[in-house]
Amino acid sequence: MSERIKVTLPQIFEMKRSGQKITMITAYDYPTGVFADRAGIDIVLVGDSMAMTVLGYSTTLPATMAELIAHSQAVTRGCKNSFVLGDMPYMSYQPSIEMAVQNAGRFMSEGGCDGIKLEGGITMADRVEAIVRAGIPVMGHLGLTPQSMSMLGGFKVQGKDAMMAKRIIDDAKALEEAGAFSILLECVPSKVTKLVTERAEIPIISIGAGPDCDGQLLIFHDMFGLYPAFTPKFTKQYADVGETIVQGLKRYAEEVREGLFPEPKHGFTIRDEQYEELLKMLE
Ligand code: KIV
Repeated sequence: MSERIKVTLPQIFEMKRSGQKITMITAYDYPTGVFADRAGIDIVLVGDSMAMTVLGYSTTLPATMAELIAHSQAVTRGCKNSFVLGDMPYMSYQPSIEMAVQNAGRFMSEGGCDGIKLEGGITMADRVEAIVRAGIPVMGHLGLTPQSMSMLGGFKVQGKDAMMAKRIIDDAKALEEAGAFSILLECVPSKVTKLVTERAEIPIISIGAGPDCDGQLLIFHDMFGLYPAFTPKFTKQYADVGETIVQGLKRYAEEVREGLFPEPKHGFTIRDEQYEELLKMLE
């Protein structure tokens, strides 16, 4: 069987050029990294959505650099082929260009990532430019940017009126000019996504932004029924692993209560003579 090798930036650009769709998912741990590789996923995002899906917060804002780095390490230990992006958490890049470059660098040197993602357009273009100048690939993130949820008035579709849609198109242009290798559009009307994609030389990825772009992202926990709090409208659930887990736990609890688990095959033995000697020692 031939080994897959690391997905590279030139390959990602070639996929846009040739019209081959780019696949992207989130991952927060080692097993998901392994699964993503086995499934041939192109890009894996260690998202700050982890604050919600794994840590149970109601927003992404509490996610820290320490948590994102630790989870990036877990993902990159498992994920040898996919291109892995670390998601810059809230306040790890907004305060200054210098802070943005330093924290982006930590995802590469400590997290083992291949690049980073950050939220924002024109206002973050100087951060993007500086990070790219440091040799770090950057994916931009526009539309519903969860770190600005308070400004946006909640988790809402963005760009539904002409003026806001024009702002997204202008932000995309600014990110491309700043050197971003790709842009993620979240919860944007499909027609606006199409306009952004047609105008961009770089790949445009959608999460809840329709099919007329260069690739798709879904959140792993939404895809597999692993986030009980909420399922976004744009998600497609490919399996209900959460329900499978609940059923398994119920069976386990039942079997323990009824003495059906563990069975002899689940235990370990001590040799007879050792057991006899032990009994003697206890006399
Ligand atoms: O953190 C994340 O997973 C993200 C997606 C919601 C786009 O940024």
